[in-house]
Formats: sequence, C-alpha cells, structure tokens
Amino acid sequence: MNGEQIQNMLTEKGFIDEPVDASVKLVEEINRLKKEKNAVILSHYYVDGELQDIADYVGDSLGLSQAAAETTADIIVFVGVHFMAETAKIINPSKKVILPDLKAGCSLADSAPADKFAAFKAQYPNHKVISYINCTADLKTLTDVICTSANAVKIVESFPKDQPLIFAPDKNLGNYINSITGREMILWDGACMVHEKYSVEKIVDLMDQHPDAEFIAHPECEKPVLLLAKYIGSTTALLGYVQKSASKKFIVATESGILHQMVKACPDKIFIPAPSIDSTCGCNDCSYMKLNSLQKLYICLKHELPEIILPEDVIQKAQLPIRRMLEIST
Ligand code: 13P
Ligand code: SF4
Repeated sequence: MNGEQIQNMLTEKGFIDEPVDASVKLVEEINRLKKEKNAVILSHYYVDGELQDIADYVGDSLGLSQAAAETTADIIVFVGVHFMAETAKIINPSKKVILPDLKAGCSLADSAPADKFAAFKAQYPNHKVISYINCTADLKTLTDVICTSANAVKIVESFPKDQPLIFAPDKNLGNYINSITGREMILWDGACMVHEKYSVEKIVDLMDQHPDAEFIAHPECEKPVLLLAKYIGSTTALLGYVQKSASKKFIVATESGILHQMVKACPDKIFIPAPSIDSTCGCNDCSYMKLNSLQKLYICLKHELPEIILPEDVIQKAQLPIRRMLEIST
C-alpha cells in the first residue's frame, strides 16, 4: 500500500485496513517491531485483555499520563482513545505518538466543544477551570489544572476554599467531588455514555441475588448508582480495593475491561459486571476503546501511523494544566 492510499484510508476509516496474512504471529511481530523501533506500548484498562497483556504499561488515565511523561522510547503507541494519545503528545512533544484507530474517541470529550466551553467560561470571569483529562486538547488550553478520577479531590483541594471553580466536562464526577469536598463547583453538562447507562433497578436486583457481593463503582456513574456503592474510585483504585477487601464477590460498575486485571490479581474471587439499562449481555463496553485490536496495533506499529499531530501553540498552552496536575499528583 502506498502513502496516498494509506492517507485516504486514514481519512475515511481512521485506521489502516491492510490485509494481514493468517500466518503472521501478531504478538511476536508486535514485540519485534516494538524492540526494533524503540517503541513503548501504553494500554488503558478498558481495552481487550490481549491488548493489556502486550503492553509495557497498563493503567488508568493518571498512570498512563505519568508513564507517557517519563518514557525514553522514541515512539509511544497508545492503545486507548484519542484524548489519551493527545495528552501523551502534549506532555512529550518530541516523541512520535501513534494510535491504532483515530476514530477511538470519547463521548465525554465530544460533550465539551472548545468554542461552546469558551463562551460558557466567559460568564464566570472569576472562576478557575479544572478539567477532567477526558477532554480535547483545545479544551485543555482553556483549563487551569487537569485532573483524573484518581486525583480529582487532591486537585480541587489544591485551590483555596474561597476560589470559585468550574469543573468540566463530566457532571457526574463533578457532582461526586462537590459532595466530598463541600465545594459548589459550576459543572459543565457532560457525561460518559458507558457510565451513565447503569440501571439502578437491575443493580439492586443483582445485589439481592448476591447478598455476599460488594457493589463498587467508578465516579463517572450517576448519583443514584453511586449511592448504592460500598466503594467508589478510579479504575486503579477499584483494582486496589478488590485486592484488599476480604470479600470474595464484587459487582463492578465500570467498563468491563478492568475485570481482566481483577481476575488476574484475584483468581479466587468472582467479578460480576454491573448491568446497564439497554444491554442484554449484562456488561458495559466502551465502543471507542473496543475499536483497538491486535491487528490494528500491528499495522499501526509497522507504518507508524495514524500519528497524533497537534499545532505547536495548542501543545504549548495545553501542556501547562497537565504539568500542574502531574506536579500536584507527585
Ligand atoms: P480512569 O482511567 O481515570 O479511571 O478513567 C476512566 C475512563 O473513563 C477513561 O476513559
Ligand atoms: Fe470516554 Fe466513557 Fe469511553 Fe472512557 S469509557 S473513553 S469516558 S466514552
């Protein structure tokens, strides 16, 4: 396939749809290319298990951005979604950052277009802006400090109590942090399409069926779901919790990819994905995260495409709030 054909395909599909011979051993080839090109593979907990197992680092949004900031590799292959790869490029602009499928987006990031947010922010000239890392690079340029679900409380509390704040784009995480910190942050009206779909009724039924199970949830879930939870935390915090808890059974309200690590860490425990309002399979998958595959990862490493390219001024401006987050988080 020539360069022009690849470019057209990237524009149309977001990934290189090149046939791969069945004899190619994808895992072996990915590892070979990774070594040859001095690349590092960073995978989020929400991608398929085989893509977590092949990673040099698997983690939550905070851990992945710290890993991206520290890597000495020449190429960062981000097996996750677009805003994560963009964040890696912003904090490490001299590296080539590639993503197996450019169309791996995020409903939260999409919910806050930078132009609309700028108009919203202009109504609150005395407010500082904290943005959840699940947002576009353009939104990051309008932000004072970035946070993730793992460090949101710490970031919010780094501001004086009398400093008025705007929190974007996730209203559910923002509401939860308001309830913990006693702040009254102004919230942008965004949500994650996976975490807002859990069914309270079905969860209550499941809890009745499994009275020995603990219900745990990610703070991107809506308030009625969080009120049922014994423990609320980021993906890494949830993973840590199931290892420490004496319970043997858990109902887990976050994207089902995390169950791969939970089962690996606690093979003697049982993990039940929390049901969503419209799923028949009983689990919630992020269709964007699930756009990643071993085949796309292999082709992406082979061609070093699709690559994340950002304007220099966006990198410069968006870097500041991410650096502030990394400093406050250490
Ligand atoms: P964390 O990785 O910070 O737990 O966030 C979950 C998520 O929704 C990532 O898209
Ligand atoms: Fe975005 Fe939700 Fe998917 Fe995370 S799980 S990438 S927040 S849509």
